Amino acid sequence: MTKIKIGIIGSGGMARHHLARFAPMETVEVVAIASRNEQTGHGLAAEHKVIFVPDWHSLVERENIDGVVICTHNDSHGEIVLAALQADKHVFVEYPLASDVAEGETALKLAEKRGRVLRVSHPEAVSNTHKALKEKISELGDLLLTSFVRLTPGRGSRPEILFNLPVSGTPAHFFIYHIYPIVDFFGGAASVKKSAVYEGLKENGQYDRFVNTLTVEFKRGGIGQWTWAGGIAINAAEEHERYVLTEGTISDAGGEWHCTTPAGVTPLIISDSPQPTLQELWLSEIRDAADQLPCLADAAVALEAIRISLASGE
Ligand SMILES: NC(=O)c1ccc[n+]([C@@H]2O[C@H](COP(=O)([O-])OP(=O)(O)OC[C@H]3O[C@@H](n4cnc5c(N)ncnc54)[C@H](OP(=O)(O)O)[C@@H]3O)[C@@H](O)[C@H]2O)c1
Repeated sequence: MTKIKIGIIGSGGMARHHLARFAPMETVEVVAIASRNEQTGHGLAAEHKVIFVPDWHSLVERENIDGVVICTHNDSHGEIVLAALQADKHVFVEYPLASDVAEGETALKLAEKRGRVLRVSHPEAVSNTHKALKEKISELGDLLLTSFVRLTPGRGSRPEILFNLPVSGTPAHFFIYHIYPIVDFFGGAASVKKSAVYEGLKENGQYDRFVNTLTVEFKRGGIGQWTWAGGIAINAAEEHERYVLTEGTISDAGGEWHCTTPAGVTPLIISDSPQPTLQELWLSEIRDAADQLPCLADAAVALEAIRISLASGE
């Protein structure tokens, strides 16, 4: 079997993570790494015995590469996705798909026109919990309300990147992995209302603490609410998720999923069957794209998710 040749863009945490998964696969060959950070870029390339190129443009234009894996910060995803698709490369991009809705829309159109795979790194696509929730939601009637709350005490290991509006976008945007699964269940939003407060906000867009809320009305009916607060005075992170449907409510009380109906409370059964990894999924989609147009359902959900996260503004 001919190996699929790929290039990695970025040389930080996620580039290292994806490389560790691709490197042992016999069906793939990592050809080159591009990063603006020459030190970590050279280091990672040397570890994997591949070429280092400082400029990502020259990587996406290389003829001996079938696909690119984009692991840069949020502010450059859209531009690199478009350049890679224009160069006829298959794309695997870290979330979010883009930080501009028009770029995301163009990316989907380009992928469709050129028959390229466009996958955004949202792990729900291979998650047993997500599958179990989707199935249970389909049994419980119409959505009335879904609510998601996440409270985090710290500012993460790299607050200068994350708590930084021009680089990472609003909390709703960098927490898009809390929006994507809910859009996958209920589709896009007809309207979005947002509220955001930043403490210690500097002129360069960095800040110390935030509260960000979003309320959407889904096109198919029902309300969605997200609340994030970070850098706050709390001992440990808290997360709560609820799906209130006409025939029952699913919630994650105490880290375990339960379903409540008038008949009683039952645990949500989650299979432990092995699933492909996101990297394996992307490679199999590239192979399939030799004979058929790729399915862009995942990218379409990722696009609806950024429509919501970017409508949240600053
Ligand atoms: N799927 C997941 O579970 C997950 C988890 C965490 C993060 N993420 C996403 O993954 C992405 C990367 O996060 P990370 O934690 O790997 O960040 P990171 O450790 O800071 O690495 C980012 C890398 O990309 C380089 N870079 C940034 N902008 C660039 C540009 N415009 N052109 C060329 N190189 C560029 C950085 O160079 P410098 O060293 O010079 O900055 C660095 O090498 C983010 O979009 C984040 O949202 C996903």
